[in-house]
Amino acid sequence: SLEQSIRPHSLDEYIGQNRMKENLKIFIQAAKQREETLDHVLLFGPPGLGKTTLASIIAREMEGNLRITSGPAVERTGDLAAILTSIEPGDILFIDEIHRLPRAIEEVLYSAMEDFSLDIVIGKGGAARSIRIDLPPFTLVGATTRAGALSAPLRDRFGVLCRLEYYQIEELKQIILRSAGILNVQIAPEAALEIAKRSRGTPRIANRLLRRVRDYAEVKGNGRISGPLAFEALDRLQVDRMGLDPIDHKLLMALIEKFRGGPVGLEAIAATIGEEAETIEDVYEPFLLQIGFIQRTPRGRMATPLAYRHFQLEVPDKWKESE
Ligand code: ADE
Repeated sequence: SLEQSIRPHSLDEYIGQNRMKENLKIFIQAAKQREETLDHVLLFGPPGLGKTTLASIIAREMEGNLRITSGPAVERTGDLAAILTSIEPGDILFIDEIHRLPRAIEEVLYSAMEDFSLDIVIGKGGAARSIRIDLPPFTLVGATTRAGALSAPLRDRFGVLCRLEYYQIEELKQIILRSAGILNVQIAPEAALEIAKRSRGTPRIANRLLRRVRDYAEVKGNGRISGPLAFEALDRLQVDRMGLDPIDHKLLMALIEKFRGGPVGLEAIAATIGEEAETIEDVYEPFLLQIGFIQRTPRGRMATPLAYRHFQLEVPDKWKESE
């Protein structure tokens, strides 16, 4: 698919996350020189920053097959046993949302990760017995939006920890220019920069906005993405100058108007705007925290003066002394 084809296929093509990338290159080269599998890798950070892309790059660079599953998809130990017993030497097993694996299944993973063996109990009651199956060496690549949600024993079994960070605007601009080249659409540098600024530090959003702006260019313009066309299209897409969308607006305005700027608990915000607390915590909050529009305090979330100013609202007195 298109989505597949614009993804980078190697670390050299991958833009951004430079420190992590350079480290990963060394670990991959060292494992290859020793003719061993790469140690298990934990990728963590906000959604859309390239965790799945990195898993497929690791598989390609290690020349192993990529096997993909996710925490919620593995419901029983038998599901995991089926996956593990079909693994071939050097395979990369990618488990997305690994923090959502049931605890009992997590425990089966421990021995699989540590000594490539599968210890499972078969049968029930007096007939129950434990069997051990040797597995070929493989690399587990786990991805999570929250490293803190993993149990300590699972986290400790990853030898390579990669934290993904929000991308710089200049990096996003490079990604957009690269994607535009692959999509074969002409784009002005100012247009790429404007899309980058409104992409919340996130390549997945940058590529999605690029496609939607291209739609405008093809239907309303001459197919070329100019600076002014990008501005107009992005405004029509309801992505504001900071990259905030209507749900961010709803969240911030609830915080400011209903809760007088906070502090207020996550659950109360979630109930007010009709979004899942988990979605707010994993998707919306991290970016609003990053740009300093909200603060987390022991008593709940607060809207900061930056958020008030973004909406051209007067900053409340409670912030006056501390500024
Ligand atoms: N497309 C999505 N993420 C990318 C990245 N980090 N580098 C290059 N292209 C990308």
